[in-house]
Amino acid sequence: MLTGVELKSDDQIRTMRRAGLITRAALQAARAACVPGATTADVDAAGARVIEEAGATSNFKGYHGYPATLCVSVNEVVVHGIPGDRVLQPGDMVSIDGGAIVDGFHGDSALTVFVGGEEQADPGHVRLSQVTEEILWAGIAAMATGRKVGDIGAAIEARAQELAPDLGLIEDFTGHGIGTQMHMDPEVLNYDAKRKGPKLRPGMCLAIEPMLVAGDIATETLADDWTVVTADGSRASHWEHTVARHARGIWVLTAEDGGAERLAPYGVTPVALD
Ligand code: MF3
Ligand code: CO
Repeated sequence: MLTGVELKSDDQIRTMRRAGLITRAALQAARAACVPGATTADVDAAGARVIEEAGATSNFKGYHGYPATLCVSVNEVVVHGIPGDRVLQPGDMVSIDGGAIVDGFHGDSALTVFVGGEEQADPGHVRLSQVTEEILWAGIAAMATGRKVGDIGAAIEARAQELAPDLGLIEDFTGHGIGTQMHMDPEVLNYDAKRKGPKLRPGMCLAIEPMLVAGDIATETLADDWTVVTADGSRASHWEHTVARHARGIWVLTAEDGGAERLAPYGVTPVALD
């Protein structure tokens, strides 16, 4: 992590929007590739093609030696699943995480998808993903209404408690500042902590990324030094967006509509800079 928070100009935020939309397009292509019989490497290739064709580059590939463009995390894999020859089965839940760099600025986003569609999946698993996405939006809303970065984690935890006290909110991984690097200050906790962090200020760009599990929140990292699984084998979901706060509001850079639809229930209207 760099020390100090990097504040972006409106023009730099516009560049980050371009990175955000390419990131989004890559994830949509990867999501569409999650069909029964496909391998996780096929999913990675679908996302990589979009980034390449857009003339952007992957921020994951080569990051501390990471070997792929996307993280493709199946079922009990929480994050950092390395794409390979694993064959996807109907009902598998797949968290796809990726990002693109455009003109030196980064995007980062993640979503969870069901192989063969939600109809093929256990309703409890579908709920796990839906609640994870919703607590992400609660955290994003708090980036608009909050005073300090720690208000985001407090909102994520409160919404998780409200919607699903039975699900486990992962504490081992956090969101982060993002801009000229993928991972920058500040740390964005996914839970309420005494340490509230820096003030939310115009020019701040954050990747907010909660993870929920069906069981216990203990995680383990496999021998490949990347793959993070739940210790009890329960399923996991991960959702993430890159969000800018500017002088007139927030803008969800990795969402097509800037976050308008999903923020409305929270009384937040995102403001696009384009
Ligand atoms: N996607 C993670 C994040 O959201 C970072 C992945 S590390 C990588 O912060 F090496 F896999 F790229
Ligand atoms: Co991230």
